[in-house]
Amino acid sequence: MTSRTFNRLLLTGAAGGLGRVLRTSLKPLTNILRISDIALMEPAQAGEEAVRCDLADAAGVRGLLEGVDAVVHMGGISVEGPWEPILAANIAGLHNLYEAARVQGVKRVIFASSNHAIGFNPRSRRIDANDPVRPDGNYGVSKAFGEALSRFYWDRYGLETVCLRIGSCFPEPKDRRMLITWLSYEDMSELVHCSLTAPKVEHTIVFGASANRDSWWDNKAAAHLGWTPRSNTEAYRARMEALPPVDQSDPAELFQGGGYTTMGPYPF
Ligand SMILES: NC(=O)c1ccc[n+]([C@@H]2O[C@H](COP(=O)([O-])OP(=O)(O)OC[C@H]3O[C@@H](n4cnc5c(N)ncnc54)[C@H](O)[C@@H]3O)[C@@H](O)[C@H]2O)c1
Repeated sequence: MTSRTFNRLLLTGAAGGLGRVLRTSLKPLTNILRISDIALMEPAQAGEEAVRCDLADAAGVRGLLEGVDAVVHMGGISVEGPWEPILAANIAGLHNLYEAARVQGVKRVIFASSNHAIGFNPRSRRIDANDPVRPDGNYGVSKAFGEALSRFYWDRYGLETVCLRIGSCFPEPKDRRMLITWLSYEDMSELVHCSLTAPKVEHTIVFGASANRDSWWDNKAAAHLGWTPRSNTEAYRARMEALPPVDQSDPAELFQGGGYTTMGPYPF
């Protein structure tokens, strides 16, 4: 017997920026942390199982989900770009993950969605989880797909998901926009922890930003997660506001998604 919440938790994208943070912070929750990525990972430590896997490989993903209680899904293409890699990792790969989760009887998935699922909302608008998606590129479309797919798996199969519409999760904010969208590593880890342990989440969409002075996002629809962000960007404000002035008529400045709203098209 153990007091840990899970026997086996799967973390995908374990070699990535957020995956490396979660690899440490998820440990106390689970007897075994199965870490996975298409890229090379640091060797498995005590209490870990490392499985190298391409999300686009259906048979591989089916095996990856075997014996898993819950999934923290960080893997996939994490930036805007041409369609084909996004199709393989974020569309086909996500479908593989949910089918494998269904077959293996997984109870809950924490899905790394993105603010780019709603990036074409103007910055003048405050939105909540009930506002329609407005993706700002191929990447944002793939995250909106993930939100729709996970809702289907809840409605049809009772597989719960928390979709994290992550803002900008880096060690520090890098520009003025991130004064609003920044999510600290501590708040991100706590958000994943709350999403995994809340008694009932059904299909929840939550915006992932720290307790910054300004916000475009209302999280009242996710109050049941019990998540309270504690960081904020005030310590970085003077430095970010001293950066060279921006053209306020640039679409990158008008929309919540920032520069992603001006990228593409790609060769077709
Ligand atoms: N960091 C942020 O600010 C931010 C913002 C919004 C959303 N997100 C989302 O959070 C998740 C983690 O973000 P991150 O910053 O750590 O990204 P990252 O790019 O550092 O990590 C993603 C990982 O996924 C792996 N991956 C890519 N294609 C794969 C495939 N076909 N099969 C298996 N693994 C594959 C990569 O090797 C990488 O290690 C991503 O899904 C991203 O879209 C992050």
